Amino acid sequence: MTTSFQADIRPLFTERDIKGMMKGFNLASYDEVKAHAASIYDRIRGIGGAVMPPPPPRGEGPWPQSRIDLFAKWVADGCPP
Ligand code: HEM
Repeated sequence: MTTSFQADIRPLFTERDIKGMMKGFNLASYDEVKAHAASIYDRIRGIGGAVMPPPPPRGEGPWPQSRIDLFAKWVADGCPP
């Protein structure tokens, strides 16, 4: 199954994630998540800086591996909308 931003990726980001990251880029925006996909994939694995999302109380904590794998699959699929 091919993934899509709307069905698979957008629902992974909470309101808190979106608000917290707005100063950098908009996690609710397909174009912006696509543009930053490589660095997002790094940061959800704790590569290149603090792991995202941050642990409580600032965020909901690192994603389980299954979500990280889903994000990787979406990138491998070519970031479909
Ligand atoms: C390129 C990818 C990313 C970079 C470079 C990045 C960077 C940052 C930085 C610099 C902060 C502020 C840290 C501080 O003030 O000490 C932050 C906060 C945060 N980020 Fe990210 N982030 C990335 C991706 C993400 C993703 C994918 C999520 C969610 C899945 C996320 C969720 C959050 C949350 C919830 C906060 C806390 C905001 C707050 O304190 O109100 N970030 N991020």
